Parts: sequence; structure tokens; C-alpha cells
Amino acid sequence: MDTPLTTHTIEIHAVAHGGAGVGRAIGEGTETRTWLIDGALPGERVAARPVKTAKRWIRGGLEQVISASPNRVTPACSLASVCGGCAWQHVDAKAQIGLKRAIVDGALRHLGAKVNKAVASPAALGYRRRARLHYQRQGDGLILGFREERSHALVDVARCPVLDGPLNHAFARLRGLAAQLPAEGEVFGVSDGTVAVLGLPGVRPTEAMDELCRAVLLDEVLIGVALRGNRRRHSVGQTSIELDGGVGIVPMLAGPFSFSQAQAAQNRALVEHVAAAAQANGKRVLELYAGSGNFTRALARTAQRVWAVEGSRESVAYLRALSEDRKLPVNAKHSNIELLLPKLAKNQKTYDLVVLDPPRAGIGEEAAAALAKVASDRIVYVSCDPSTLARDLAVLTKAGHQIVDVTIFDMMPMTPEIETVVTLRSGGRR
Ligand SMILES: C[S@@+](CC[C@H](N)C(=O)[O-])C[C@H]1O[C@@H](n2cnc3c(N)ncnc32)[C@H](O)[C@@H]1O
Repeated sequence: MDTPLTTHTIEIHAVAHGGAGVGRAIGEGTETRTWLIDGALPGERVAARPVKTAKRWIRGGLEQVISASPNRVTPACSLASVCGGCAWQHVDAKAQIGLKRAIVDGALRHLGAKVNKAVASPAALGYRRRARLHYQRQGDGLILGFREERSHALVDVARCPVLDGPLNHAFARLRGLAAQLPAEGEVFGVSDGTVAVLGLPGVRPTEAMDELCRAVLLDEVLIGVALRGNRRRHSVGQTSIELDGGVGIVPMLAGPFSFSQAQAAQNRALVEHVAAAAQANGKRVLELYAGSGNFTRALARTAQRVWAVEGSRESVAYLRALSEDRKLPVNAKHSNIELLLPKLAKNQKTYDLVVLDPPRAGIGEEAAAALAKVASDRIVYVSCDPSTLARDLAVLTKAGHQIVDVTIFDMMPMTPEIETVVTLRSGGRR
């Protein structure tokens, strides 16, 4: 069915995974396809033009908001209309958790599950402690920032209102090294709220570069830069920091290249929720996609032993250092989990409790089928992508594990990203 490349009037009734408004064209009798429109909100009537069409849907470009949702606000960031870093700067911060709940409810509806509890973020701006920016050399300076939405073009971000102070400071200092950087590349940063460290892949560690980094970059806030290039790694200053220590929990180690959750306050809430849902007391725990030990340190407080598996060697090294330093009952193993799970299932290995936190891709149907056999009682599945979560849960529930709780966390306000924790029991026991 052809859709003329003219403007259409669309009524938005829902929000899709990824944050786009979902709607239908009005006054067009025969056009039954669903429209997906970035920047449109439920309850709005908008004018849009098709930018991509498929059999069942049309991706529309927002031309005009004809009648606005009460949740539409003026973005706090002056770059919101061009920068692809945040897709929801135009959404009232208080309304974002409700939209995220609706996305997860929609993704899990066919499994008969819905969100039980939604934890809003205490802060909407200045919360983000980990980011990856792109750069391109331009003259003596740098274009340094995020890519435009659905484009490779770079937006120069002098100061990002979502990043925390130390991270903004660290990225800004990188501009001083512009002439010595490759023509284009990426920079990773992580902060503990007071100091920050950067990671520069593709930057060859030489003595001269070490000296330059010390002279131009490091100060009392930017305390270290990790260089990686030509298969060599080098640390200038201190390149690992401690995150999220506090009452009853030991801090974990993090570096610019290892994964850590984007927000300190919500991560504390997430870790405590996972520990409470897991009920690890005296149990043999298999933790998959363990990272540098974010959940491991909480599970190990009461578990008999935690077998923590992770695919990044750097994260495994942090996790081992944490376990040795704090004498935690943890075995940290480096492995590819999608390959490991079928082997464990084949060898009839079982664990009382499995906690997993895969990347966006989820674990996939084959590994989920193996997980269903390996987990003898309880599974706590932490996900950052509701659609791959739904796909994996379909396999687990079909194999007899029942969903007993779904809780979501708004870890990254101003974006449609959602952290979902699903607790399952075999046979539906609580
Ligand atoms: C979403 S992070 C979670 C890390 C940790 N649970 C946390 O909260 O900080 C996913 C982790 O899975 C690891 N990973 C990705 N793919 C993997 C794979 N195929 N096998 C093992 N680990 C993998 C990444 O290195 C990353 O540390």
C-alpha cells in the first residue's frame, strides 16, 4: 500500500519500546498501518510525514504538534532537537516512569504479566556517571558529543545537562588534547560523583602521550586516562575508581571500559531489590553477566557461594580483586554465557538461584531453554530491553517457571531506557 509523501494527521494512543509515539492516521479510511513517530506523546494529535514504510508500520517524521499532551515540556537542554543522546527531553520528568511502565506492560501482556512496582528516579538531570562520546578533529579543536538521532552526524556538546559534574569536566578537558588525537574516535568516561577517569581506545600508548596526558588532561577531578592502541594498554594516573559503597554494601571497582550502571542512587535501589528478590540465604547461586560484581557483592552477603560469570576480562579482574579484598564467597569465571548455559544444561548442573543481567540482546531462545533447566528454583532476570526480555521470558514460562514479580527502575531519565527486574519461581512458589 502506497503512502503519499505528504503530511498526515496522526492520533497518538501509546508509546513504543524505544520511546516513539504509536498512532493511527485519521480521516484516511483505507490506511490501517501503525505509525511510529519519534518525539510524539500519547494523547497528542500530530502532523507527520512518512520517512520509512513497511508492511505493517510507517515510521513518521514529526512535523508539527497539533494538540499537545499535558506531559510535553520545554526541554532543559538547548540541543534536544538535534542531539540523539536523550530522546525524551520533551517529556515531563514526572511522567516518564508512567510511560516506561506502559512500555513494559505492553511487552509482557501476552505473557499475562504486568509491572508490580515502578521506581522513579530521584533526579532527572545531572545523574549520569558513565557515558561514551564520539569525537572528530576539526581544525585545532574537536567536535565532541553524541550522534544525532538515527544518523552518524556528530553534535558538539559543550556541557551535557544529564551528565554529572565530574564527567562533564573530564570530557571538556579532552578538547585540550585535540591536536594529538586520531582524526575521529570514541571516549569513555566514568565518575564516582567526585572524580572521573577517561578511556581512549585507538590512542597508542607512548611515553610522549603519557607525558601529554599528565600535562594537559589530569587534574584534581580527572584523575586518570586509560589508553588502548596497537594492542597495548597503559594507565596514566589512576584509572579505576570505587563505586557505590555504603551502609551494608562494599564498593565495587570500575574503569572507563568496564560496564557500570548509569546512575548511583538508582543503582543502590536496584542492587537492594535484586538481593531481596533473590533471597540468596545459604543458597548456591549462579550469577550470569556479573560485570565487575555489582550484584555479586550483595548476593555474597548471605549466599553459601556465588559462581559469577562474565565475558569481559577486565570486569572479571575487578570482580576477583573485590572478592579477594573483601573475602567474599565468590568464584569469578570468564566465559561466553550463551555457550556456557547449554553446556551446563547438558551436564545436568543445577543451581538453587540464577541471577542474570544480560546486555540489550538478552540471552536468546537456546540459552533461555538451557537456563530453564539449570535454575532449579528461582530466577532473577535483570533486563535493559523489554522486547528481548519478553522473548526470553516466553521460553522460561513455557518451561514451567512462573513470573511472580515485575519491578522497573528509571535508571536513565530523559531517555526511554528501562531497567526491568523479573522474578520467577519454578512451579510459581513465592
Ligand atoms: C548489562 S551489563 C551487567 C553487568 C552487571 N550485572 C552490573 O550490574 O554492573 C552486561 C554484562 O554482560 C557482559 N557480557 C556481554 N555479553 C556477554 C556474553 N556473551 N557472555 C558473558 N558476558 C557477556 C558485559 O561485559 C557486561 O559486563
